[in-house]
Amino acid sequence: MAAQINPSILSADFARLADEAKAVEGADYLHVDVMDNHFVPNLTLGTPVVESLARATDIPLDCHLMIEDPDRWAPQYVEAGASSVTFHVEAAHAPVRLAREIRAKGARAAMALKPATPIESYEDMLPELDMLLIMTVEPGFGGQAFLDITLPKIRRTRDLIAKHGLQMWLQVDGGVSAETIERCAEAGADVFVAGSAVYGAQDPAEAVRALRAQADRAIADSTWACGH
Ligand code: DX5
Ligand code: ZN
Repeated sequence: MAAQINPSILSADFARLADEAKAVEGADYLHVDVMDNHFVPNLTLGTPVVESLARATDIPLDCHLMIEDPDRWAPQYVEAGASSVTFHVEAAHAPVRLAREIRAKGARAAMALKPATPIESYEDMLPELDMLLIMTVEPGFGGQAFLDITLPKIRRTRDLIAKHGLQMWLQVDGGVSAETIERCAEAGADVFVAGSAVYGAQDPAEAVRALRAQADRAIADSTWACGH
């Protein structure tokens, strides 16, 4: 699959979100980090902002919910206009039911794992998901250093996706930049969230194109994508 780049608006100017969405025209999704000050020690935005943003841009929204009780709140993000909704497995009470509910409401269902959460316990539920997000930093803040300890888990997850013949996407989020994106792609990621690497660049749209080209080359050279 071709690499997808999802700029994270956590690194954008929150007073000018419509302009910041325009600045990354050509991005595959806009990554919207929702934080509740409980699941992570930071507070960002909720459904009213997602609704306004969905009206202000044609780029589909990829909402990453770093919140407690996603079972209760995640479906509202589909209603607010998100095309993809990601909940954290560490916070979900009934992840299978929640993934089904998100899909039934018409969005792509995704589940996120913090760096220390293993994938193996969730092998059997992978067919319930459209995307798995492997966090490559501890969630909560933009601009953190990429954690190389997550690379073996990305590899093992890619192997599980192949073993079960699934079409699901494998997303990485946190510290993804020109320095680290090739390592992620080589390990098995195909969807890349980038906050500071995109919005910290002189030309954010050009940064998206450059990251995508770099990831596409690394995927083409990887062992996991051979024959795809
Ligand atoms: C962190 C967020 C990320 C963040 C990434 O908890 O989930 O989406 O915006 O920012 P960078 O790319 O700067 O690490
Ligand atoms: Zn995120």
